[in-house]
Amino acid sequence: MATTTILVLGAGGKTGRRVAQRLTQAGHSVRPGSRTAPVPFDWERPTTWGPALRDVHAAYVTFQPDIAVPGALQTVRAFFDLARASGVEKLVLLSGRGEPEAQGAEQALQATGVDWTILRASWFNQNLSESFFLDPILAGEVVLPETLAPEPFVDVDDIADIAAEALTADTHSRQLYELTGPRALTFAEAIAQIAHATRRAIAFVPVPIADYRSELVRQHVPQEYIDLVMYLFGTVLDGRNTPVTDGVQRALGRPACSFEDYVQRTLATGVWGRHAPSAR
Ligand SMILES: NC(=O)c1ccc[n+]([C@@H]2O[C@H](COP(=O)([O-])OP(=O)(O)OC[C@H]3O[C@@H](n4cnc5c(N)ncnc54)[C@H](OP(=O)(O)O)[C@@H]3O)[C@@H](O)[C@H]2O)c1
Repeated sequence: MATTTILVLGAGGKTGRRVAQRLTQAGHSVRPGSRTAPVPFDWERPTTWGPALRDVHAAYVTFQPDIAVPGALQTVRAFFDLARASGVEKLVLLSGRGEPEAQGAEQALQATGVDWTILRASWFNQNLSESFFLDPILAGEVVLPETLAPEPFVDVDDIADIAAEALTADTHSRQLYELTGPRALTFAEAIAQIAHATRRAIAFVPVPIADYRSELVRQHVPQEYIDLVMYLFGTVLDGRNTPVTDGVQRALGRPACSFEDYVQRTLATGVWGRHAPSAR
């Protein structure tokens, strides 16, 4: 049997780590796409792309820092072209809802001639436990712009389940899945659920969006990051992405994980700090 390798970009990240785990457990040969891997991959150094793609037949593509940033489209298009020229037969792209730059990347992928699956995801549950919201939650105060619309957070385990299948079977060939959780929640509701489950006081503080930007500047957050966050908050979270979709059900034949389920699973890891179950 021919040996085949699957490249997983962002292999240490929220989705890539889970995709790599699923593939490895199923016995597939995985090449981790990481700046520190034995064969390094760096979006900012295109010379690393060719070696990372060598002898690869399928790849999971997550762009950094965000598929919505200006310039992402040109970069991923160049990567898709190189992947096709290198003999890659299947590309699975992690995309974002309601982002013109991301939708441009999806079209570029569909135009390559390589088999594709597109996972157009809403905001991840795991942003609250493995990413930028974790520190404020641990500090007990989450400050956010008051303008943010309810979001149907999706679970990265659902995304990884679909990605792993799409990389190893034809089932999801040429399918674009719009992926959300089963219900839209406000950020206040999401934080309140975590506070309730952890039995910790976590304040949710909505502020005018201009004040939010000023606060990031005052905290010396890098300008690039401020621009990205303000872009995401001003577009992706303006209400356009509030409607729930059936993408997870369509792809996996089962309902999407609920936020409540995510909170219970994450609570058990201890990442949110103290959770004192009642004494028996
Ligand atoms: N977060 C969301 O709610 C959300 C929603 C929809 C879509 N998305 C999309 O998801 C993508 C992010 O995926 P993710 O959340 O799974 O990833 P993630 O958790 O943000 O992954 C971070 C990984 O990216 C790697 N990385 C950082 N800079 C890199 C570079 N210059 N070149 C190569 N790798 C780099 C890092 O690995 P090393 O340090 O090992 O290199 C790190 O482990 C973005 O394109 C975003 O648009 C996110």
